[in-house]
Amino acid sequence: MATSFLHRHTRIERNVTLLGALSLVVVAIGGIVEIAPLFWIQSTVQKVEGVRPYTPLELAGRDIYVREGCYGCHSQMIRPFRDEVERYGHYSLAAESMYDHPFQWGSERTGPDLARVGGRYSDEWHVQHLKDPRSMVPESIMPPYAFLADRELKGDTMAGHLVALSRVGVPYSAEDIKQAAADFEIQAGGEGDTAGLLKRYPKAQVRDYDGDPSRVTEMDALVAYLQELGTQVDFKAVEAQERAK
Ligand code: HEC
Repeated sequence: MATSFLHRHTRIERNVTLLGALSLVVVAIGGIVEIAPLFWIQSTVQKVEGVRPYTPLELAGRDIYVREGCYGCHSQMIRPFRDEVERYGHYSLAAESMYDHPFQWGSERTGPDLARVGGRYSDEWHVQHLKDPRSMVPESIMPPYAFLADRELKGDTMAGHLVALSRVGVPYSAEDIKQAAADFEIQAGGEGDTAGLLKRYPKAQVRDYDGDPSRVTEMDALVAYLQELGTQVDFKAVEAQERAK
């Protein structure tokens, strides 16, 4: 039985055209099985409590992070390996980067993973570290970014960024977009409707980040972004849920 099956299979293996055509059929079946369900399920990402779109200030900081190529040395994806979880915290959930366009995953790490760096250091630490990394970590090979503190940043272009992101599925409301420029200033310590900002973006951290309250700089935005990373989800609750399963 086995020999006759193998014997028949030799015929396929000897005929390149037949082998090619049949391989295509087999791969197509596999492809359909994997891809077709995606058209019928509501979402491929499991929703997680607490995940919200970035505030305008955090979003500006994220743009600077991307512009400066920080991702070349830092990933934002904690893999479910014991050494990573012990060092960085709970492994990354898909929902945590569902509003990231483009996402900042990756496995290249010249520096540490930053997925949960929010709250690990003070603002002063970040500002000093970004200005002169070796003043904080003598063996660091990270380049200095002192110029960020000298570059003033205006929030008036943020509404356009929110509109663009809403087109690719980030749920910014008309109100979020209208308030974008104001929210940008308020989060960096400016006057205004802080309660409104916090209602739109729960747990947003409102303060002057770079030590210069007179204006908003690229340093403010970048540090606001770093301090937010990994802080949206309450992982104590997630872990309790996982244990209960
Ligand atoms: C050439 C590689 C390189 C680039 C580019 C780089 N970094 Fe780093 N970064 C490192 C290394 C190495 C460390 C670890 C030593 C240290 O703390 O300085 C680090 C550390 C850090 C830390 C501290 C993380 C922790 O958990 O201790 C932060 C925050 C950080 N970088 C942010 C940034 C940001 C923001 C940018 C872009 C503006 C950036 N880095 C660009 C290499 C880099």
